[in-house]
Amino acid sequence: MNELTVNDLHLDYGTGAHANQILKGVSMHLQKGEVVALLGPSGSGKTTLLRAVAGLESPKQGTIAIGDRNVFDGAKNFEMAAEHRNLGLVFQSYALWPHKTVFDNVAYGLKLRKMGSSEIKDKVSDVLKNLGLGHLAERFPHQLSGGQQQRVAIARALVYNPPVILLDEPLSNLDAKLREEARAFLRELIVRLGLSALMVTHDQAEAMAISDRILLLNNGKIEQQGSPQSMYETPDTLFTAEFMGSNNRLPAKVVQRDGARVMLDIGGTPLQGTARGAGGGEPSTIIRVEEVKVSATPVENAIELPLLTCMYLGDRFECLFKSESGPEMSLRAYSKYKLEAGKYWLQLPADKLWVF
Ligand SMILES: Nc1ncnc2c1ncn2[C@@H]1O[C@H](COP(=O)(O)OP(=O)(O)OP(=O)(O)O)[C@@H](O)[C@H]1O
Ligand SMILES: [Mg+2]
Repeated sequence: MNELTVNDLHLDYGTGAHANQILKGVSMHLQKGEVVALLGPSGSGKTTLLRAVAGLESPKQGTIAIGDRNVFDGAKNFEMAAEHRNLGLVFQSYALWPHKTVFDNVAYGLKLRKMGSSEIKDKVSDVLKNLGLGHLAERFPHQLSGGQQQRVAIARALVYNPPVILLDEPLSNLDAKLREEARAFLRELIVRLGLSALMVTHDQAEAMAISDRILLLNNGKIEQQGSPQSMYETPDTLFTAEFMGSNNRLPAKVVQRDGARVMLDIGGTPLQGTARGAGGGEPSTIIRVEEVKVSATPVENAIELPLLTCMYLGDRFECLFKSESGPEMSLRAYSKYKLEAGKYWLQLPADKLWVF
């Protein structure tokens, strides 16, 4: 059974002539034990979708069900209040109460619900232990690191035992190193507790690392969804391909198409590529940076370009090749070693040279 089902959701901000369509028919689901990442550029509607599920925004049309309970039904004009939806919420600005201890921050919601104090103590201790915060219960937020504060915010959402948690950029306040650790921790926690989670992020690497499935939102609609691997390796659209990885875009002319095989002309060099997606419109040719192979000698399906510069990235170099004359063309590629100045053959494997 789905823990969360959203069907054809429409939401506008403003009314009448000033209405701004933000969600334009979003459908998605979340199964038990599944972590789904909601990914998309700034302004694509990620937070809005999360807030609509939580009951903090009123959609115009569509349905939302949590487990087998309908919580929103546009056709019936039915909307369940946020506090009855039994969801765990973790927002980007996790705002802990500064004058309450960690224990009291987490216990607060249970006290509001008039739970008995010994039951509260058990529940809070349990969730703090689960998050590795047991020894910090008596501290105040200012006595915690950023990562620990983040975990308190998550504890506060989990203490009600919600079957579904919604997280809006929960790791964005952490620095890069802590963020990578928190990512692994959060994923492990969600799986261990058998929760279902919908997590917003605009970082594609984070989305791939943490989720079982990615929903990519583009301007209020789901552009594509699937496993991290399928989104990365077999994108259906140029938008998905460009969003999921680091790419080179090439000024290619399509010379001939034969099913998925496409003959291209790139600045006078004939190359073979692969058609992806539905086609139509002006063709665009791209290749992931990591798929470009650098060779000092002539190789198949390659273009020859001089090296402009190499940047050291720690585990490798990122090198930029750029045409000196003729049509403007540049390509980025990774190299294990720093390259000498000169001309190189950049091999673009046909199955990785995508034409949309
Ligand atoms: N309360 C509001 N009133 C009017 N417009 C709003 C409101 N909240 C958001 N919007 C608009 O709705 C659109 C979607 O916003 P949303 O916050 O869902 O984007 P997002 O995908 O979460 O972006 P980000 O990655 O920047 O957080 C934006 O164009 C935004 O300006
Ligand atoms: Mg947002």
